[in-house]
Amino acid sequence: MTDPTPESDASPEGAPSASSPEGGSAAEAPASAADGDASDRSRSGTGFDTVLGRVLVERGFITGDELQECVGRLAKAGEAPGGLSQLLVREELVTERQLQRLRSDLETDRASRHIPGYRIVKKLGAGAMATVYLAKQLSLDRPVAIKLLPRRFSSDTKFIERFYREGRAAAKFNDQNIVGAYDVGQAGDQHYFVMEYVDGETVHDRIAKAGRVPEAEAIGIVRQVASALVHAHDQGFIHRDIKPKNIMIGSTGTVKLADLGLARAVSDREAAEAEAGKAYGTPYYISPEQIRGRTDIGPAADLYGLGATFYHMVTGRVPFSGKTPNEVMNRHLKSTLTPPDHVNPKLSAATAQIIEMLLAKDPADRYRDAGQLLEDLDAAARGEALAHARGTTDLASVAASIAQDASTQPTEIRQVASSGGSNTGHVMLIVGLAASVVVNLVLLLLLLTR
Ligand SMILES: Nc1ncnc2c1ncn2[C@@H]1O[C@H](COP(=O)(O)OP(=O)(O)O)[C@@H](O)[C@H]1O
Ligand SMILES: [Mg+2]
Repeated sequence: MTDPTPESDASPEGAPSASSPEGGSAAEAPASAADGDASDRSRSGTGFDTVLGRVLVERGFITGDELQECVGRLAKAGEAPGGLSQLLVREELVTERQLQRLRSDLETDRASRHIPGYRIVKKLGAGAMATVYLAKQLSLDRPVAIKLLPRRFSSDTKFIERFYREGRAAAKFNDQNIVGAYDVGQAGDQHYFVMEYVDGETVHDRIAKAGRVPEAEAIGIVRQVASALVHAHDQGFIHRDIKPKNIMIGSTGTVKLADLGLARAVSDREAAEAEAGKAYGTPYYISPEQIRGRTDIGPAADLYGLGATFYHMVTGRVPFSGKTPNEVMNRHLKSTLTPPDHVNPKLSAATAQIIEMLLAKDPADRYRDAGQLLEDLDAAARGEALAHARGTTDLASVAASIAQDASTQPTEIRQVASSGGSNTGHVMLIVGLAASVVVNLVLLLLLLTR
């Protein structure tokens, strides 16, 4: 492909957070990651400079005299606020890295002051919409993960209502493959979500490290997520954001689906677009129906996200890439999938068929539910014929050429040609041809016997 592959996108942003020693991502993530307000203040206020100066002196990075001299010089020069940190770096009194670490510490302090009952230990990572911290729940003396919502969402009352409603519903789940939801709350103007802490890594980390996940291991991961989805869908929950970063692998090997029941303040498409520029963040896993902004999003959307994740694990490539989020999303809608066993020829035919079924463009052409997927995964593991997935590889290539020929046709027509829905068309064509051959033979026989 012409595009930067996600592997090359793999900036340090996402990868090492969970396993890095202390606030590993602190050095890499900008101070702005925690919430809008912290960044605004650090960028625009002398308040942050004052705090920074005090902490630098307290921690012995600089002396009080050095600080006074720098502050005096800034005042004389009439430099913009925020200039203190730059001046300190220019004077080689502190390094950029030390400053970043300090900023992160200050953020952590701010966060911990705001959530009674918990003590923040370190930052685990940040997504497009929120930041996640490792914390200790003081009453039960247990580690938890706390997701802090950006303050800007606080004014959206409808979203906040939904956030609490869904949080409460998610807390009723008890499934070993779903990250447990413990608490939702508000401290000051900051809303938060407390959940089970998973000591391990995400599938994203695993792919970033290994390039490809061995097929048997990938099947095991997908199996556990499918089992979580059976449970979630039964309770009426659609996840809407199945992706490698939301699948955690605990240190004992148990796979846990994260972020189930987390309400979102924006549409699926906006949420996916918001991640542009972050490692693996571009909308690589979003379903066509979510891209179209359909309101009747069902379990099939989660199956597509899981299919895209499965594809990424076993091929080392996302199913559709592109230079911009729009390009990627257009390809989800219109481009024919390169069969996964064409990218990784060692892949079993059964796994390839399962993935293609999951990535059908039309939700109706995917598995009816996650239970059917489990049945096929088990059949594949036993080396038996699949009960649900159809052999689509050849038809897909036919569909690809049809799609190319028809590239001048309106989107809807091309859509049918490139989707799994083309199977029915092909079957009818073959039946029609066979019928016409039979009729012609009968006519020929009649002619000959006259
Ligand atoms: N329950 C959890 N336990 C441990 N780490 C977590 C947990 N939830 C999230 N994380 C870490 O925090 C990061 C940020 O999570 P999140 O804000 O949901 O964004 P994203 O899912 O897009 O990465 C994740 O990538 C993961 O590394
Ligand atoms: Mg997440």
